[in-house]
Amino acid sequence: MVASAVLRVSLIVFGAIAPAFATPVAKSTVLTPFGEYAAENVHAVPAGGSIAHVGTDIHLLDAKGSLVHAAAFDSTVSVRAAKKTARAVDPWVTGWTAYAYWYNTGAAINAFSTTWTVPATPAVNSGQTVFLFNSIEPASGNAILQPVLQWGGSAAGGGAYWAIATWYVTGSNAYYTTPYSVSVGQSLVGIINLTSSSGSSYNYLSEFSNIPAAGALALTGSAQLVWATETLEAYGITQVGNYPSGSTVFSGINISTTSGTPAVTWSTSSDTADGVTATVNTQGATNAVVTIKY
Ligand SMILES: *[C@@H]1O[C@H](CO)[C@@H](O)[C@H](O)[C@H]1NC(C)=O
Ligand SMILES: *[C@@H]1O[C@H](CO)[C@@H](O)[C@H](O)[C@H]1NC(C)=O
Repeated sequence: MVASAVLRVSLIVFGAIAPAFATPVAKSTVLTPFGEYAAENVHAVPAGGSIAHVGTDIHLLDAKGSLVHAAAFDSTVSVRAAKKTARAVDPWVTGWTAYAYWYNTGAAINAFSTTWTVPATPAVNSGQTVFLFNSIEPASGNAILQPVLQWGGSAAGGGAYWAIATWYVTGSNAYYTTPYSVSVGQSLVGIINLTSSSGSSYNYLSEFSNIPAAGALALTGSAQLVWATETLEAYGITQVGNYPSGSTVFSGINISTTSGTPAVTWSTSSDTADGVTATVNTQGATNAVVTIKY
């Protein structure tokens, strides 16, 4: 009796300890469309929620405007610089692979829209993540607002299927709307609009305008957003089959400003060593076309 009681106790103790060995160590960082972020700094935006720059803080608000989370905005960390450094190290494995960009120095961008089609499923799943999006950043490069198509996993969830979410990523915190599954061949319209402004404070709305069920992300109190991009970003790529085959065409690319139609000339950056390229097929502020070839 005594022996079995001792055995029982030791089994219970072992049972309490065992999960610590069996459970994988929790990942302290998670993947966002701007690389790995500390998990505690990545936040789901509740349906209808928004993000507000308030003084030197960033507030995550729910649909009723109640505070869900507050963080200090670290304006010294440039997401753009972080991306460029990562890219220089190993473009094949990390970060922005091919993209087109335009830097606005004139009147504020009022609307920036892009159409593209959900590509075929990548032929080879090696646990990679592929992001395709139009995006816009402030001059400082310390934030990015982006309607994102994702294949593979990220901090927002997802997996071996295509899903859309809108993200706002800053140097220190990242925010995403709930991923919404989309189908191969489905048309997407990603928009970023200026909804209002006052002095140096700008309010934006980003969403997939033809898929309202996926939700929108409102950003208030932002710096003016000036650097517009059309981007392929990928992580964990080990072979070309990790990308969708063929190409993705960003089309109907429109940029208007508060003073009308600007003169827009898109530039490109490509990973030519690996044959992944961005090409501008049609220039201009209206109906521009950029092709990403995998
Ligand atoms: C965004 O801007 C476009 C172009 O001006 C406009 O057609 C669209 O209605 C706007 N959408 C929102 C939600 O403001
Ligand atoms: C861009 O503008 C053109 C011309 O007005 C329009 O046909 C096209 O649908 C617009 N693109 C998007 C993504 O809304």
